[in-house]
Amino acid sequence: MFRPARADELHRLQALVVASINDLTVRHGFGELASVRPPTFQEFMFNDDPGGFFVAEDDGDIVGYAFSWACGDLWFLAELFIAPRLQGSGIGRELLRRTLRHADQAGATMRALVTFTFNTVSQGLYIRHGMFPRLPLSMFTVERKTLTKSVSGKQLEFRQAGPTDVVVMASFDKSALGVARENHHRCLLNDPAMRGFLLSDGGTCVGYAYVAQTGHVGPLAVIDSRLMGPAFEGALRIAADGAWAQLSAFLPGSCEASLRIAAEHRMRIALPMVLVSNRAFGAWDRYLPRNPGFL
Ligand SMILES: CC(C)(COP(=O)(O)OP(=O)(O)OC[C@H]1O[C@@H](n2cnc3c(N)ncnc32)[C@H](O)[C@@H]1OP(=O)(O)O)[C@@H](O)C(=O)NCCC(=O)NCCS
Repeated sequence: MFRPARADELHRLQALVVASINDLTVRHGFGELASVRPPTFQEFMFNDDPGGFFVAEDDGDIVGYAFSWACGDLWFLAELFIAPRLQGSGIGRELLRRTLRHADQAGATMRALVTFTFNTVSQGLYIRHGMFPRLPLSMFTVERKTLTKSVSGKQLEFRQAGPTDVVVMASFDKSALGVARENHHRCLLNDPAMRGFLLSDGGTCVGYAYVAQTGHVGPLAVIDSRLMGPAFEGALRIAADGAWAQLSAFLPGSCEASLRIAAEHRMRIALPMVLVSNRAFGAWDRYLPRNPGFL
């Protein structure tokens, strides 16, 4: 049975997501990478628009879950996970169909998501629904203590952002991604575990960056690709001042400036992923996503 998800289930659904991810990553030799986290983003988006949340039930058990968000012309599949024991029996296809209706209802013509590079099943399923693999993206990690010295000469000024900066921050998304995601910024700026910054170059605001309490950098956006290096380096420096053991960032394969810095710092690829979409979009040399669900 398929039905819309309820708000009081969002916590519980994360256990299904984690079990499904770890089953997949262990099978492919990456080990157990996921752990249950508070569904802060899911709850925020559910309150705004519950139309993209669905579950599949089998005899009273929840065995599948999908969550998509829509913003302007962009529909994004943030989560689609089936219990390992029932994979390959058509549940993913049905949930995907339902969330694609959410795209139609929202009037979003651009459809995208990020999936695991090594998952032939998910990529095949998305290709069958007109969404094609376009861009490699990888989660990079490094031990905080082993981070090397600063590698980029130019420096940008970082000023802590607040709720009144949402519109200007969203304008950088509009420029890099084609959609202004004010709600995403409200969610991040509301989260005590995140710090957002506006970046300036000689007094002109040129982008934004977030650093999480976990040591994760992103999302990050700049107005000019030549500023990506100093922006990413500056954000890594802020993350390196924290007390967490590891630093991480989710880097697009075409964002050479950020990849060069990651390599200089001896960051390691923890998880290779791929952006899948019905048509090309995004200036990925000017934008670093936060993670596969938030983008
Ligand atoms: C990916 C996932 C959501 C798919 O759901 P599912 O219920 O297992 O899949 P379904 O049975 O509905 O559909 C399987 C489809 O995958 C495709 N597929 C399977 N193996 C394939 C392969 N080797 N090559 C290409 N396509 C393949 C086919 O299109 C198939 O549909 P078909 O049999 O009608 O042709 C599910 O397997 C899962 O949760 N995997 C682990 C987590 C994950 O990767 N989630 C996606 C994150 S974005």
